[in-house]
Amino acid sequence: MSSLATTVDGLKLPNPFVIGSGPPGTNLNVIQRAFRDGWGAVIAKTISLDHSKVVNVAPRYGKHHALSGEVIGWENIELISDRPFETWLTEFKRIKDSQPPGALIASVMEEYRKDAWIEMIERCQDAGVDAFELNFSCPHGLPERKMGAAMGENPEILEEVCGWVMAAAKVPVWAKMTPNVTRIEDPSRAALRAGVQGISAINTIRSVIGVNLDTLRPEPTVEGYTTPGGYSSRAVKPIALRMCMEVAQVIAKEFPGRTLSGLGGVESGSDAAEFILLGSDTVQVCTGVMKFGYPMVKQFGEELLAFMEKHRFETIADFKGKSLPWFTTHAELVRMQRERKAADAAKAAAGMVRNDAEWKGDDFVKQSDALAR
Ligand SMILES: Cc1cc2nc3c(=O)[nH]c(=O)nc-3n(C[C@H](O)[C@H](O)[C@H](O)COP(=O)(O)O)c2cc1C
Repeated sequence: MSSLATTVDGLKLPNPFVIGSGPPGTNLNVIQRAFRDGWGAVIAKTISLDHSKVVNVAPRYGKHHALSGEVIGWENIELISDRPFETWLTEFKRIKDSQPPGALIASVMEEYRKDAWIEMIERCQDAGVDAFELNFSCPHGLPERKMGAAMGENPEILEEVCGWVMAAAKVPVWAKMTPNVTRIEDPSRAALRAGVQGISAINTIRSVIGVNLDTLRPEPTVEGYTTPGGYSSRAVKPIALRMCMEVAQVIAKEFPGRTLSGLGGVESGSDAAEFILLGSDTVQVCTGVMKFGYPMVKQFGEELLAFMEKHRFETIADFKGKSLPWFTTHAELVRMQRERKAADAAKAAAGMVRNDAEWKGDDFVKQSDALAR
């Protein structure tokens, strides 16, 4: 019998499905709702010590529709939580007092001040949270205060801040990476060097969702203007998978035992299976919950279990990272294909008959070569 239950950084989770930081974890009511519906863990909306500095605007979402009308991409210019830190501490305590079946993870962000980070970690810890996610990745609004992605793009500062946190934290810490860098391995390595237990990847991709062809204004339009925001939802999944694969390779080679929480465009149990095959221990969902609601986790579980049973995997660990060895360089692909073709030619010359599948593959390669010319 396959089981979805998993233990990550000592956190015992009923399943690997985690609510990603954002609107689906924005207060006590929705967090408790998520646990009731069966999510394995909830990462609350990111908080900071002084909520009065956080001022949101409306509208703050923009959508990218496929020709079918389906929403495939989502831009937001939403900031971190604008609710008071003290309110959050009370709610964390109440959630933990209700003994939820999964883990409660606080997402935190502060300015480049050691005392602020330590105060925030200690007070959330006293409220009983099970773990932390450090938000080094919000691409809009906060970088102007040298927070979020402004820190995440700078491995040196990231390592220093993670060091402050690790000195104060008594529970597991994940560092959440921005995808808005050329090499996500560099900031990931810096955080892991400082001792964080895990990496979360990815946050949103800096974007402009579109321009209104009647008003000629870029969207989402606030008082006639906009600012670049963060792109999420199904359309970002291929980029998220690539970045998770890169972080997973770093963890496997240089930091064995550390963990990865993958996210970006997950909308099904099959999507989650792909993130796990590329090295994720847990899989987060944010925009998917905004589009389809909390109960989607039930279907996630059924789909992931069906996948596991099909391949006779009993636990998440049985297939975590199983697809990672199948990445190589383009030069290697060329070498292997050349060798295979030479072997086929040798077989044909020896009078051996090739099977249909191989012939079709070859024909396709020939046709696309001809088209490319
Ligand atoms: C409206 C909105 C608000 C978000 N707020 C936060 C936040 O407060 N902290 C954070 O770390 N990530 C935040 N995110 C990013 C998500 O947690 C996630 O990294 C990203 O959206 C990609 O995953 P998804 O495609 O499942 O949404 C937000 C995303 C959206 C769409």
